[in-house]
Amino acid sequence: MQTDGPAPDRTPASRRSGGFSRRSFLKGASIAAVGGPAGAAATAGGAILTDAPRDTGTIPAGQLREIALRVNGVERRVAVETRTTLLDALRDGLDLTGTKKVCDRGACGACTVLVDGQPTNSCLMLAHDAVGREITTIEGLASDAALHPVQQAFVEHDALQCGFCTPGFVMSAVACLGKHGKPSPATLRHELAGNICRCGTYGRIFAAVQDAAGRAGR
Ligand code: FES
Ligand code: FES
Repeated sequence: MQTDGPAPDRTPASRRSGGFSRRSFLKGASIAAVGGPAGAAATAGGAILTDAPRDTGTIPAGQLREIALRVNGVERRVAVETRTTLLDALRDGLDLTGTKKVCDRGACGACTVLVDGQPTNSCLMLAHDAVGREITTIEGLASDAALHPVQQAFVEHDALQCGFCTPGFVMSAVACLGKHGKPSPATLRHELAGNICRCGTYGRIFAAVQDAAGRAGR
């Protein structure tokens, strides 16, 4: 039977916080909207809500924490926010600018690094999640004496134009050769599918990687 009284509050208990339901929030917001005290609103239960900072148990944006990242075989300390990506920690915190920032949303592969040997878009990984992992960037491939075979092949095949995509392609190619040895052309295309070259240098890139694979097998 329907009554004229207020309808029961059906906000699920799991969605309530400290007895503060969606309904009491809406009532409080309405009071504020019609001229309640600035920054404060009374709930139906009489509690006063203020916009004073609350301890939410999270690190506020803008607050830095120092973490240790293992990059190219060396432990490096870097101060980051909780939201800082691995890409920004590498480029802005550790000055490893060989890893490129292009789309910053996982679409182009320019930021590819190896995390525990796996090619990874560093713009999609939080720096905090990289703690305890082995990170390899383009700066970590060459030795004092020589370029990595994939780098050398890129040079010999002139496999770049602007070069912005090149570090990402090289890192993905290194991972591909580590996984497949001598990949077939189809496998190579599949493994490099996450990398985009806006200059369209694909033919030379694939030739360079196939060449590097052949050299490794000699
Ligand atoms: S910058 Fe990370 S995928 Fe494009
Ligand atoms: S060489 Fe320019 S984007 Fe690939």
